[in-house]
Amino acid sequence: GSLDVEWKPPAHVQAFNECTVKYQFEYRSTGDRDWKVIFTRKLKFRVGFDLSRTAEVRLQTLLKGRCTGDVEVQSDWIYATFQIPSQGKLESEVQNFHCIYHDWEYLKCTWQPGLLTPRGVHYGLYYWYEGLDHTVQCDHYIQEHGMNVGCVLQNLSQAEYRDLNICVNGSAAAAVRPLYTTLRLHNLAKPSAPEQLALSVSAAGELLVAWSPPGGRVPRHCLEYEVQVAEDAGGAFVSTQMETTLTISRANQSHISCVRVRGRTNVFCADQGFWSEWTQDCFSVPRKEDKQLFILIPVILSLSISLVVFMLIGQCKKRSPAGKPLQTSVGL
Ligand SMILES: *[C@@H]1O[C@H](CO)[C@@H](O)[C@H](O)[C@H]1NC(C)=O
Ligand SMILES: *[C@@H]1O[C@H](CO)[C@@H](O)[C@H](O)[C@H]1NC(C)=O
Ligand SMILES: *[C@@H]1O[C@H](CO)[C@@H](O)[C@H](O)[C@H]1NC(C)=O
Repeated sequence: GSLDVEWKPPAHVQAFNECTVKYQFEYRSTGDRDWKVIFTRKLKFRVGFDLSRTAEVRLQTLLKGRCTGDVEVQSDWIYATFQIPSQGKLESEVQNFHCIYHDWEYLKCTWQPGLLTPRGVHYGLYYWYEGLDHTVQCDHYIQEHGMNVGCVLQNLSQAEYRDLNICVNGSAAAAVRPLYTTLRLHNLAKPSAPEQLALSVSAAGELLVAWSPPGGRVPRHCLEYEVQVAEDAGGAFVSTQMETTLTISRANQSHISCVRVRGRTNVFCADQGFWSEWTQDCFSVPRKEDKQLFILIPVILSLSISLVVFMLIGQCKKRSPAGKPLQTSVGL
């Protein structure tokens, strides 16, 4: 949530008209080690807080100019805190809240009803990030049995690399404890699977693997890939890399090589992220024995079929004079 903080100038500040008056405004949520610092000449400020914790602010006046001999003079600090009055029972808060930022295009969040869910509860998801003038409600809910259990948010590129503050609350006959959380989209990204995976074998007998980055808004320089190779001769190989090609030497007897590739956001763009699905393909090199088999199999097959046909014809000729129906004799 965003919190508006306002203050009044110190008394007699007009007396210092030869000096500039500034304020050093600092804020944090209880439990944070560091204060965030802002210098301003205004008398109010709007900042984002994690409303599940207590918001703490402190403020001092800074005076500098002819009246102070050009030395900066600081007042004492004044402090204030703010906490949302707790609402509803803790067990009524939604559970298993998860979000994934798909292809850097849309954010999908899901949750499950709290353990103590009031009858007929209607959940709502609200969000705010620095730059929005007011809190916005989700406009595309995911529903199950008529109950909101998720939300899809589009057009969040302005919220990337910032704190995205989210609240899931509920209206019902009994109060529902809201869930507050702060997300960082780039750490929740999941790209689509890599595309156009192509396998070939070079003249030197090496396996050449190449693919394209997935479509969508994911910046290409932000991706890394995991490549896994398995061969029927028992070879296995894993590589984690940022390039979209890979050359590997094949085990001698192997004639089938299977490769799968998946991608995720790399350390240059995020602290963490989700792996995409796998894209996979196999490549087979016909062996010499295979070529012989290709000729042998049809020959053996046609020989066996002819043999069966000849035997059947032979049986029919023997039994027909006895006047038995043809089908029965074949069945026997
Ligand atoms: C996306 O957001 C920007 C502001 O962040 C807004 O100007 C634009 O209209 C939005 N587009 C859609 C399709 O909602
Ligand atoms: C849920 O939160 C939004 C945004 O803060 C607020 O406008 C709305 O009234 C809340 N709903 C309930 C039932 O508390
Ligand atoms: C393949 O066989 C050649 C000689 O027959 C040998 O030099 C080479 O090390 C073998 N390579 C592998 C990967 O087993």
